[in-house]
Amino acid sequence: MRADFADKVVYQVYPKSFKDSNGDGEGDIQGMIQKLDYLKGLGIDYLWTTPVFLSPMNDNGYDVADYYKINPQFGTMADMDMLIRECNKREIGLILDMVFNHTSTDHEWFQRALAGEKEYQDYYFFKDGKPDEVPTNWQSKFGGSAWEYVPSLEKWYLHLYDVSQADLNWENPKVREELKKVIRFWKEKGVKGFRFDVINVISKPEIFENDLEGDGRRFYTDGSHVHEHLKELVADTGIEDMITVGEMSSTSLENCIRYSNPEEKELSMCFSFHHLKVDYKDGDKWSLIEPDRMALKKLFEKWQEGMQQNNGWNALFWCNHDQPRIVSRMGDENRCWKESAKMLAAAVHMMRGTPYIYQGEELGMTNAHYTDISQYRDVESLNYYEILLSQGKTKEEALKILASKSRDNSRTPMQWSAEKNAGFSDADPWLGVPENYKEINAEKETKETDSIYSFYRRLIELRKEKKVISEGSIEFLERENADVLAYKRAYEKEEIIVFNNLTGKEITVQMQPEWKEYHKLLGNYPDDSANIDGEKLVLRPYETLSLEA
Ligand code: NOJ
Repeated sequence: MRADFADKVVYQVYPKSFKDSNGDGEGDIQGMIQKLDYLKGLGIDYLWTTPVFLSPMNDNGYDVADYYKINPQFGTMADMDMLIRECNKREIGLILDMVFNHTSTDHEWFQRALAGEKEYQDYYFFKDGKPDEVPTNWQSKFGGSAWEYVPSLEKWYLHLYDVSQADLNWENPKVREELKKVIRFWKEKGVKGFRFDVINVISKPEIFENDLEGDGRRFYTDGSHVHEHLKELVADTGIEDMITVGEMSSTSLENCIRYSNPEEKELSMCFSFHHLKVDYKDGDKWSLIEPDRMALKKLFEKWQEGMQQNNGWNALFWCNHDQPRIVSRMGDENRCWKESAKMLAAAVHMMRGTPYIYQGEELGMTNAHYTDISQYRDVESLNYYEILLSQGKTKEEALKILASKSRDNSRTPMQWSAEKNAGFSDADPWLGVPENYKEINAEKETKETDSIYSFYRRLIELRKEKKVISEGSIEFLERENADVLAYKRAYEKEEIIVFNNLTGKEITVQMQPEWKEYHKLLGNYPDDSANIDGEKLVLRPYETLSLEA
């Protein structure tokens, strides 16, 4: 059993929306420092901040122009050093976000490539061609072609993301050396771990060809040299004992086992996203369908059991800065806000893996509920709004899709209090605050013992108290019942059974005789006497119930 990070919990901060310390409407590093005691109070072990490096911010920092400089919008290098020190003082490890698949087109390497320096053109994928001869039909993940033409060079360059994010050529050893230098620099500064952005798409094929079956992803996803490159990066920078998490786009279980099995000496764990596509119609994110609960269960079964059998390790999560808020997505923010937010929390925190909490998730923050395109800021959402209109959708239909799918849903300012701008900033925030901040905020919830915040705190405590949660095996129950996500965790003589009613209706499951002797460890309804009805276990709307042997 691997246990390095099994009892740890990571908290993700999106700095632009976390806390503004200098009154410019955007969050910053000093703001993060101000809130470290809040994070310590919650009980987390690591703080992952999304990128704060120099960047034109076309993709809010995932377009890095200099890996060694701090974006002045977030502060200075002195602020960063202070953040590392203040985290260390509180025994919180800082995790930095390494965006190594691409750089901003503002990066010096790309600028030198544009100026005609062959050496730097080889840092990226430049292909000769005429303006009407796009090298392949690959699509950018943010919409449109993945190639952009540079007339002055008579070449195309590859960008799997925005046109301002040019893909780096990892087959060039000089690129790999440059990236190792970046890791060493930050490691020496005292950061405790790294998150690697879309790291499974770094290995591109030798020959670029049209994808007659899709958008090109099958040629570069978990590409042929990716494991080799990761092993080299990890070995040459000496980060094998640090916490490292790879963000894996459209990956496979087989590859994630290799990325995270300690014997492979690649990463500590993986983010995979299949479970967050169960509300995509035929794989299309920009569609509106109800989540397919059976598909969700099957994916958890596959990934939990598959990783367990092969000594792999999952990062457990529902939310991040790219995903709509989970309580709006799979819970019921109107009728059962508190119950459903707690159930969803328990559903992943009680599993095998390392849980991640995204800022505001611990408060049950909801989607933004914007009604006008002028309220959106995200490059992907703005691109897709145009694409949806060009596909014939009306403005109302396109806005309805954005209201449910836009990444801005998770990027709204952190709701600290019932004061102006939710206590996030004295100035107008860069992105609008949801109207519900007077009811949903940290000041209120930290005082209430039955708040969503208190429930998350308890989940973190339990992971530290009970090896059966951090290190136990997992086996799924009620596998054919789409309404309930249920599993058994076991470790030596300890055993816990976890039931999560995924629906807003009352449901029952068959009791095993021995469960009658079990006691309640955790639940989201105060009265548990209502649970047993003869041979049946009754679960109320969105109820989560953990029973301990
Ligand atoms: C994944 C990041 O989480 C997302 O925010 C970003 O836009 C893409 N990678 C590109 O870097």
